[in-house]
Amino acid sequence: MGLSAENLAVTRAGRHIFTDVSISAEAGDITALVGPSGCGKTTLLSCLGLLLRPDSGTVVVDGVSTQKWSSRRVARWWHEDAAFVYQDSGVIDEKDVGYNVTLASNLWGRTKIDDGALDMLKNVGLADRVREKAAVLSGGEKQRLGIARALYRRASFIFADEPTASLDAANRQSVSDLLRRAADTGACVITATHDDGLAARADRVIALAPAS
Ligand SMILES: Nc1ncnc2c1ncn2[C@@H]1O[C@H](COP(=O)(O)OP(=O)(O)OP(=O)(O)O)[C@@H](O)[C@H]1O
Ligand SMILES: [Mg+2]
Repeated sequence: MGLSAENLAVTRAGRHIFTDVSISAEAGDITALVGPSGCGKTTLLSCLGLLLRPDSGTVVVDGVSTQKWSSRRVARWWHEDAAFVYQDSGVIDEKDVGYNVTLASNLWGRTKIDDGALDMLKNVGLADRVREKAAVLSGGEKQRLGIARALYRRASFIFADEPTASLDAANRQSVSDLLRRAADTGACVITATHDDGLAARADRVIALAPAS
């Protein structure tokens, strides 16, 4: 179980971002993509998460090639199996913090929150903010909220682009702990990071070559 990519190539605006990348990331592991700014980490992560179609090469999910997947099939995979923690973390500003974790509300539009969601919010230090609008959170708080949501969903594949980038040391540590825990409970965690602390917690570190 896990995810692999074979001979991926992406060209953007006439520039080769990467030409032949093959990697494999196992369920139960944290795989860290590292390398200098601009080397293509975010682009590669987008390909692995099926957000961006490479110009050539294949992404294989749990042994199944995704090359012929329809956009509907891909959307189902995003919905059922994948979670993304991106720097702008997909937080819905006009909803409260609790909703941003559970994505569930009752008939009257009130956020549905359960113990699991509260637990996650506690883990990222946001439990006392549950009824506040996400719009008022700081950048780092939004990032932690994005992580709480990804982990709450127990996704099999977690894609995290610089998940510790706007955080202080204590929160960097707790986010690394959470990603570690997600992997230890069976998720395939793939992260692009400049954070040596997070890379040190990874089972595998893949260094991308600087863009030529
Ligand atoms: N849509 C696009 N059009 C043109 N160039 C692009 C596009 N998307 C990415 N690039 C270029 O591809 C290169 C790799 O970008 P990418 O965001 O993957 O790097 P990165 O390794 O994640 O960098 P950072 O560490 O700064 O986040 C950059 O030079 C970027 O300008
Ligand atoms: Mg990036």
